[in-house]
Amino acid sequence: MTAQVEKARAARGDSTGKDITLTVKNLKVYYGTPTGNVRAVDDVSFHVYKGEILGLVGESGCGKTTTAMAILRMVQPPGRIVGGQILLDGIDLVTLNEPALRDVRWNTLALIPQGAMNSLNPVMRIHTQIAEAIQTHEGKQPKDALKKRILDLLITVGLPSRIYDMYPHELSGGMKQRVCIAMAIALHPSLIIADEPTSALDVVVQRVVGQTLLDVKERMGVSMILIGHDMGLQAQLVDRIAVMYAGHMVEVSPVGSIFADPLHPYTQLLIESIPSIKERKPLKLTEGITHDLRNPPPGCIFQERCPKVMEVCRAEKPPLRQIKPEHYVACHLYE
Ligand SMILES: Nc1ncnc2c1ncn2[C@@H]1O[C@H](COP(=O)(O)OP(=O)(O)OP(=O)(O)O)[C@@H](O)[C@H]1O
Ligand code: SF4
Ligand SMILES: [Mg+2]
Repeated sequence: MTAQVEKARAARGDSTGKDITLTVKNLKVYYGTPTGNVRAVDDVSFHVYKGEILGLVGESGCGKTTTAMAILRMVQPPGRIVGGQILLDGIDLVTLNEPALRDVRWNTLALIPQGAMNSLNPVMRIHTQIAEAIQTHEGKQPKDALKKRILDLLITVGLPSRIYDMYPHELSGGMKQRVCIAMAIALHPSLIIADEPTSALDVVVQRVVGQTLLDVKERMGVSMILIGHDMGLQAQLVDRIAVMYAGHMVEVSPVGSIFADPLHPYTQLLIESIPSIKERKPLKLTEGITHDLRNPPPGCIFQERCPKVMEVCRAEKPPLRQIKPEHYVACHLYE
């Protein structure tokens, strides 16, 4: 472990003894607009342990993709990182120059973008696309070794070797998504960020693709950030969950602890809203983010929708605090 990782852990007060792949500290990403800055990510901190899947959840527009793009330093204008640190194996990506970043991006980080399966090139065979991903970053490879490597990748993501010669339109959505996972792991990254990899798929295929991600984690010991809406699916796949609301991190916890005892009122609503086969529950979470991200209210970010709002919530912003082992929440109820 590098001295920088030790330092980052000490600064964050991590006492688990687990190795940390990524530490995001006080990250701020704003989109400049003519009417002010949209604070898409506003002072967000979290970390990802080596070999774990961290689920990043929250409703549409809360800043999940922006967080992912910031980690890759790929936020597009008018967006920009306005503050914070992103420490990958101890190196601060925020301060790296473009050539150094390019190296890290390809060799250490991999992104499965939102809607990835629709971005496969329709006129290229699957093996050509995977080969291109490998050779762009590693240079020309011997033909036989490359073929073996691609077939091994297909096996790793649970795809039959016959798809090697196929075109994307010949594959189902789940198969295409697994091709995208194969491309993401081709260069042996230490962190994969998968942005809603299952959201366009039906429920059964979601499980299959989710299982593929679990298999990849087990086989490669890779760390992952799995972005999603579906708390039920997250419960089955991830080790810890980080809940975002309106650009803020409101709760971070091991998956068992957050489902057994969700602390933040927003997380409670998210979990109560999971559809159950046994009972039909009324949906408690109906509205979207209610305030303008250009003009967040003083105090707690969730105050306008919180069923438990108190006077202090309107005046003071609650910091993210550890309440139980590894279980953090930003809410005045736990002071
Ligand atoms: N180019 C842009 N200009 C202005 N605001 C933007 C821009 N891109 C994103 N935003 C705003 O930033 C916020 C966060 O967006 P982001 O795409 O990160 O959310 P998300 O959590 O990934 O949502 P989803 O679940 O819908 O993918 C949103 O409120 C969005 O409107
Ligand atoms: S700080 Fe207050 S408003 Fe915010 S979630 Fe907690 S109780 Fe609700
Ligand atoms: Mg998104």
